[in-house]
Amino acid sequence: MDRIRITGGRPLHGTIPISGAKNAALPLMIAALLTEEPLVLENVPRLADVALLQRILGNHGVDITVGGKRPGDSAYQGQTLHISAARIVDTTAPYELVSKMRASFWVVAPLLARMGEARVSMPGGCAIGTRPVDLLLMALERLGATIDIEAGYVLARAPKGLRGGEIDFPKVTVGGTHTALMAASLAQGTSVIRNAACEPEVRDLADCLVKMGARIAGAGTPTITVEGVSRLSGARHRVLPDRIETGTYAMAVAMTGGDVLLEGADADLLQNGLDAISAAGAAITPVNNGVRVARNGGRLAPVEVSTAPFPGFPTDLQAQLMALMTRAEGQSRITETIFENRFMHVQELARLGPRIRT
Ligand code: UD1
Repeated sequence: MDRIRITGGRPLHGTIPISGAKNAALPLMIAALLTEEPLVLENVPRLADVALLQRILGNHGVDITVGGKRPGDSAYQGQTLHISAARIVDTTAPYELVSKMRASFWVVAPLLARMGEARVSMPGGCAIGTRPVDLLLMALERLGATIDIEAGYVLARAPKGLRGGEIDFPKVTVGGTHTALMAASLAQGTSVIRNAACEPEVRDLADCLVKMGARIAGAGTPTITVEGVSRLSGARHRVLPDRIETGTYAMAVAMTGGDVLLEGADADLLQNGLDAISAAGAAITPVNNGVRVARNGGRLAPVEVSTAPFPGFPTDLQAQLMALMTRAEGQSRITETIFENRFMHVQELARLGPRIRT
């Protein structure tokens, strides 16, 4: 799709089913590389990134079947993936694939932990600024891997297997925490991950790893302890709801006015984001089967928000908040603290008339 045409001016009404979280589905799919038994993931969103990761895993020899759609299912409903990495045929993740999606770099951890080696292309260019992988590699080194960089590829080796270690992240990193968790699960001995990311997607990955037999305590807090095991088994896991999709639709309703049920959404995953939307003037009500968002007339108020690691305001909702703030009466202030180059929407938004100063 290269063009979306919107005719505006109408309030939004109805029910929107919230998908499974993309940022949990990707590391969960990658975790399937840790075991020769099948991992069944339910509520996986239908997205280009998921399809691309299926191809990347396929390249390593992973078999993926997609559960059939039942009568009455709609395209909006999640899919069930049966992922089997019984035999890994290739420990190389090539540039052509990794450069298309940065998160696919994370395959380095399970390949290394299970096979003792991985050769993974550096992620290459990315639309939101430079996104280094130094901390991910530091974590693997702390678990006993040797890392070499040759011709744009990371060569990670641990011929005798990984061993437990202390990983102290100087900066909160979601991808770093995912890779540390996966690698430490199959390392020999105990690992401690400090200044770990507390994002709900990290907890979701840890929950699934525990179902696979990993011994993990403290996921969702800044200190995670992992007792390595020698092998992991298959499991069945349901991906948690997408908090970024939830926040995005909530802001859409706040902008246009109306009354919408975000079905399956979990307000606890997005307290800080929903607080900002309420402060702007929408009514947010957690209900049994999701979150209701309404704004019936009434002005939108400006807010001051700074992005921060969880439980702070998510950087992935920063652009949407800025769009919402163009409708607020008065001056709002938005600070981005996670990525240095994540204001690229400013120029485009400004073309619609609001005065935005960076
Ligand atoms: C994940 C999310 C992304 C979200 C981000 C922050 C997925 C697939 N993507 O990305 O949507 O915006 O978390 O919530 O889950 N950093 C380093 N060295 C490293 C790794 C990271 O300096 O080795 C820096 C990054 O440049 C950035 C900060 O750490 O400034 C946070 O990045 P990180 O949390 O790792 O983001 P991702 O896991 O890539």
